[in-house]
Amino acid sequence: MNDAVLKSWQENASEWIKAITENTIASRTYTNKAIVDTALKLDRAKIIDIGCGEGWLVRALENQGKKVLGIDAIAELLQSAQSKRIGTFHQMTFEEIMDGKPLPNAPFDMAIFNFCLYQKEGLVTLLSNMAKALNNDGHILIQTLHPYLLMQQGKAYQSQWLSDSWKGLSGNFTNGHAWYARTLGDWSETLNKIPNTKVVFQEVTNEEGNPISLLIHIEKHL
Ligand SMILES: C[S@@+](CC[C@H](N)C(=O)[O-])C[C@H]1O[C@@H](n2cnc3c(N)ncnc32)[C@H](O)[C@@H]1O
Repeated sequence: MNDAVLKSWQENASEWIKAITENTIASRTYTNKAIVDTALKLDRAKIIDIGCGEGWLVRALENQGKKVLGIDAIAELLQSAQSKRIGTFHQMTFEEIMDGKPLPNAPFDMAIFNFCLYQKEGLVTLLSNMAKALNNDGHILIQTLHPYLLMQQGKAYQSQWLSDSWKGLSGNFTNGHAWYARTLGDWSETLNKIPNTKVVFQEVTNEEGNPISLLIHIEKHL
């Protein structure tokens, strides 16, 4: 990564805050509920929300009695999150985690990546380092667009770079960044390289039974 990704988020931070505040992303009806319900069901006390954006998930989990730290690269998003005075926040990038920079207040019982993993390279290093910052029965939850999206967009079912991260969103988003869409097989093969973990897939569907997102559980064990 990742200058293009961070530049795009810097440019679009206020538009993103508006989209979340005004609830303009229709699929979030399903995916917000899915990540909150799953996180609460796992019943872990101390949580880190990585790529937390404007902090809605931190607030949702704090309001249910969890202790949550949100981290993100983008100062404007973190300022908006901090202004709500629920949860704690820290500016940090995925690249710093990959470089081995210690996470503040580690260890955690659970780490969440909700719609923020875009890279092809470095995923195993990022998640392996995250797993090291978890307690022994710790859990990583990843939510991402379902690979079915490839067929919905008329593309071949193979992992590939897609060009515009804002595609399909309303609002005045500009300069969308590229992101790497993986097939289920690719997710499985890649994540099974993380040492001492077990990977389980959960699929989130809408009322019509169409897949909306993929929720990936990475369970740490020794
Ligand atoms: C689609 S938003 C998701 C925000 C939040 N998780 C949510 O569910 O609303 C993606 C987030 O990932 C963050 N992000 C992307 N790349 C990052 C990086 N390399 N390091 C830190 N944060 C990053 C962006 O700043 C943005 O807040």
